[in-house]
Amino acid sequence: MQDWHQKAIVYQIYPLSFQDSDNDGIGDIAGIISRLDYLQALGINTIWLSPVYPSPWVDHGYDISNYKNIHPRLGNLNEMDKLITEVKKRSMHLLMDLVMNHTSDQHPWFQASRIDTIGGKFRSMYVWKEGKKKPNNWKSMIGGSGWQYDEVAKAWYWASFLGFQPDLNYHNPAVKDSMFSIMDFWIKRGVDGFRLDIFNCLAEDTSFKNNPASLRILPSEANPSGFFQKPVYTQNTPATFIISKEFRQRLDSISNKNAFSVGEVFGPPQLLRAYTENNKGLHSVFLFKTLHAGFKAQKWKKLIQENEIYFPEPLLPTWVLSNHDKKRFISRIGNDEDKMKCISFIQLTQRGIPFIYQGEELGMRQQKLNPIYSKDPVVKKYGTTAARISRISGEAMNRDECRTPMAWNDNKNGGFSESDTTWLPTSKEIKFINSETATQTSNSLYQHYQRLISLRSSSDIFTKGKTDSVKLKSKVLSYQRNYNGESITCYINFSKRKVKYPVKMEKIIFGKLEKNRKDVQFLPPYSTTITKNN
Ligand code: NOJ
Repeated sequence: MQDWHQKAIVYQIYPLSFQDSDNDGIGDIAGIISRLDYLQALGINTIWLSPVYPSPWVDHGYDISNYKNIHPRLGNLNEMDKLITEVKKRSMHLLMDLVMNHTSDQHPWFQASRIDTIGGKFRSMYVWKEGKKKPNNWKSMIGGSGWQYDEVAKAWYWASFLGFQPDLNYHNPAVKDSMFSIMDFWIKRGVDGFRLDIFNCLAEDTSFKNNPASLRILPSEANPSGFFQKPVYTQNTPATFIISKEFRQRLDSISNKNAFSVGEVFGPPQLLRAYTENNKGLHSVFLFKTLHAGFKAQKWKKLIQENEIYFPEPLLPTWVLSNHDKKRFISRIGNDEDKMKCISFIQLTQRGIPFIYQGEELGMRQQKLNPIYSKDPVVKKYGTTAARISRISGEAMNRDECRTPMAWNDNKNGGFSESDTTWLPTSKEIKFINSETATQTSNSLYQHYQRLISLRSSSDIFTKGKTDSVKLKSKVLSYQRNYNGESITCYINFSKRKVKYPVKMEKIIFGKLEKNRKDVQFLPPYSTTITKNN
């Protein structure tokens, strides 16, 4: 594990919605380059770029048709090289999104596969089954059979996600080699690692037995069973865990152990941890339970303890609040910036890797968009009613609603683009939630992030060592961070009232304490404080 892995503070850029430089209403790489100073001023040291490869954009880049180039509307390889150089100039690191599990159905490999003979070079790159009947009961990750009938091949192919995203066949060594050579290609260009899309789905079981039944209707981040089955032959198979080790070996060897990886996987913590294979597999995995912890102190207490148990050093827990698939966290807690300050404080004072989704630092909110005009293929698959129901249930099925353009200022399209139309509408709150306002307003959510990030970057105590004495008393959550003989205590007051705090707090290194005339100390409502213990 490199020092930079432990200290990484990752900012996720969704390229289509970050900054448009050529005014076609879609973000691009030149736009990203023009905003690197903003990220540097925020204190970010690592960027995760959602896919920028050529793609028909049915799933906006998560359907890749060429892994070794850049989508022409986003730029070209020269501009990508420039981005890599500019990132390095600022001593930052760049992670690309690698969709290993599937390609677009427009990828030349798949097109060749459809017309290839059974067992042929291209045919065996994907998971095909002959016959009239569906091969078995396997469901895709988002429901419905994952088997797709192809009229050209007169056979079924397997797709873990949507039908136009055929799964590659990881039992074929040539597939692994091709994917590993793609890794080499980007690492040699100077990229620092990868975020790995639905890594849990890589290798299906070769017995093709039916998945066993389950009573669960919908899968969750912590339990992949759903749609009335346990996906034992389609997700988290023993072969997939072996690939996590092979992947790491290859990544280590081509990057001289410098590169980093984070896997998108789902399940209970012991299963997620297994993907790291005691630091011989993926460097880290997303831990998504945080998404559902809301503003509940008890839940955060448990999560902090759980991560310490399952991901002690040298393993790295991750702290994720939102991404391009999930409801924006601030909108899960009533769009309340004070509450968001408390939750981001936990994220930025724990050991592990904080992931900040673009605009989260500004308090950008989930938008309400009419599913009829949705660009999201999941909505297209399930229709608009499902999107409405999912919104009522509190989860966002229309992923457009968290993908609207970044709010830079209150000019046309929030400074995102000069175009008359943008690919998704800009957010409704652009007048008061934008980076220009946030950077200039004292005590804004942005400034809170900036201060915390700067504190985190100034001392190893936040990124190394242990979290101890996790306590919850009178709605105040507290924990100690201990490293190298030093100790600090972090306090989060989850209450809307001020809380008397009996322990004498002397050296305050973050936040404020209120004192009354008798010198009694109070933690202000929804406040965050750090004290130094020695
Ligand atoms: C997970 C990605 O985050 C999501 O955006 C995408 O649609 C699916 N994987 C399929 O690649």
